[in-house]
Amino acid sequence: STTPTPTHFSNTTPLDSTPKQPFVIGVSGGTASGKTTVCDMIIQQLHDHRVVLVNQDSFYRGLTPEEMTRVHEYNFDHPDAFDTEQLLECVGKLKSGLSVQVPIYDFKTHQRCSDSFRQVNASDVIILEGILVFHDARVRNLMSMKIFVDTDADVRLARRIRRDTVERGRDINSVLEQYAKFVKPAFDDFVLPSKKYADVIIPRGGDNHVAIDLIVQHIRTKLGQHDLCKIYPNVYVIQSTFQI
Ligand code: ADP
Ligand code: C5P
Repeated sequence: STTPTPTHFSNTTPLDSTPKQPFVIGVSGGTASGKTTVCDMIIQQLHDHRVVLVNQDSFYRGLTPEEMTRVHEYNFDHPDAFDTEQLLECVGKLKSGLSVQVPIYDFKTHQRCSDSFRQVNASDVIILEGILVFHDARVRNLMSMKIFVDTDADVRLARRIRRDTVERGRDINSVLEQYAKFVKPAFDDFVLPSKKYADVIIPRGGDNHVAIDLIVQHIRTKLGQHDLCKIYPNVYVIQSTFQI
């Protein structure tokens, strides 16, 4: 028989006594793999929940005047290019239910906009997206679910050439030079090794509707457990232990 038998209780206290914490999802993958596209699709499908997106790119350090004179020698793909302390503080605050001001980064000037920020409010789901969001253990530990978007390098390079020349004010030679000198080596040294931390790997990014549907279903289940506790505060959540 496959009758479910409630043999295991996940908690000895009703779950409503634990404060509701946002569900934090990390989305990583190489440049132009489709991370933002996947995040947008998840957000669209979770339309009945409050979801916010935080981009690791927002935490790029602005270049000093000295660095600006040799911008072609700057490695934007190294973990040190980001202000990870600030990112940690920001996601930590969001996770504890506070709203935050996220910096706005300009890829054309390699600087942060000094006088404007994006207000990000507390929400049910926080998605943190970026090439190196799995690199730092402290950032990883904030996440309840980690997704790696896995797209072939030639497809990513083709997309990057188009995007950087159209949207980020670059010429094709500088894109190819930067790719060979920094982007590809850093992918091999830092991004690819962090794939092992992923819970879910999505081949083909935004084209993979099945994977995105499954992920959204999982998030809904996790959020639903909280909602159930709001409706039935004395109900204990029974984990899926089945006796066959
Ligand atoms: P990332 O956030 O990983 O850098 P994006 O989602 O921003 O990647 O995608 C990078 C570029 O590739 C964008 O210009 C986007 O429009 C394009 N792109 C993303 N996914 C697809 C896809 N499945 N098919 C075609 N173009 C895509
Ligand atoms: O959106 P995506 O994940 O591709 O953004 C990360 C990429 O942005 C990195 O590979 C880095 O080379 C590039 N970048 C850049 N110029 C900057 C900042 C980042 O080309 N000023």
